[in-house]
Amino acid sequence: MRHLFILDPLDRLLPDADTSIAFMREAAGRGHHIDSCEMPSLGLGTEARPRCTARSLELRRSADWYRADEPMARFLDEYDVVWMRKDPPFDQAYFYATHILDLVAPPTLVVNDPRTLRDANEKLFALRFHEYCPPTCVSKSIAELLAFREELGGEMVVKPLDGAGGSGVFHITREDRNAVTILELGTRQETEYLMAQRYLPEVRTGDKRIIMIEGEPLGAVLRVPTDKEARANFHAGGAAQKTELTEREREICGAVGPILRETGIIFAGLDVIGDWLTEINITSPTGIREIAELDGIALERDVVDAVERRVAFRRSGS
Ligand SMILES: Nc1ncnc2c1ncn2[C@@H]1O[C@H](COP(=O)(O)OP(=O)(O)O)[C@@H](O)[C@H]1O
Ligand SMILES: [Mg+2]
Repeated sequence: MRHLFILDPLDRLLPDADTSIAFMREAAGRGHHIDSCEMPSLGLGTEARPRCTARSLELRRSADWYRADEPMARFLDEYDVVWMRKDPPFDQAYFYATHILDLVAPPTLVVNDPRTLRDANEKLFALRFHEYCPPTCVSKSIAELLAFREELGGEMVVKPLDGAGGSGVFHITREDRNAVTILELGTRQETEYLMAQRYLPEVRTGDKRIIMIEGEPLGAVLRVPTDKEARANFHAGGAAQKTELTEREREICGAVGPILRETGIIFAGLDVIGDWLTEINITSPTGIREIAELDGIALERDVVDAVERRVAFRRSGS
């Protein structure tokens, strides 16, 4: 099988922590061919055929984790599967990349489905299941956001719709004299949306990342914030802790799973704080390396199995 991985620059990836590298190693271990490219090299040739500049990779187990061939012009339909694993932000460049990926001709599989990557903002997607989300308000208006804080009893979390890794997240209380400044910056003077949400104190015991593969919860890890941080993300120093799913979390997964499967999201990460769903990560979720360490399971196998199944199905012309 031939794989193309669309990635951030290879030298920026951490070989021991990066989920994309786990996928690449798993596929290479099965004897598959691995190429990689960066998102800015994507373009359209004549007849709207998506193309890129890719390098073939040889993967190694050492810190010096890859050897790359010379860059070559390639068409994306030369591959069995194209993995869109560029990290957020979901910006204009990412938006156009999803349109280019829409044009990749079958039977080449694009993971995750570019239409859903474009349609489902990670923060707003969760609100399709709002019965499982904490009380939430999305607004550009500082007055509305402040009124919502009062509705919640004087405390809330605000976050930008396009943030990731905890960027731009604030916990604001009524006493905070910086609140208005934070809202001015967060809404860029009331020109951009900010999401405000009930502050969930359970976050102190952890923000759970649940890995969903083909819509099924196959692993989870708890991210526990340091005592100097409001944010539990690994990027913000959150510690990985072994965990299991509660009844309530299984219910949330049961609600979200079918939609992930139907919309071509082979690999997703749900974020759950206490009993509440806060985010559905689909662009480039992470967490499987921590789960491997804590639980001794290799979720990359399930992901590559799922991709192989989908590729076989598409090749059979069904
Ligand atoms: N409603 C909330 N209550 C308490 N803490 C929250 C809430 N929402 C987010 N956080 C904190 O911010 C972090 C990042 O939030 P999240 O919504 O998952 O955005 P990101 O895309 O940045 O990961 C979480 O790990 C948590 O520590
Ligand atoms: Mg998150």
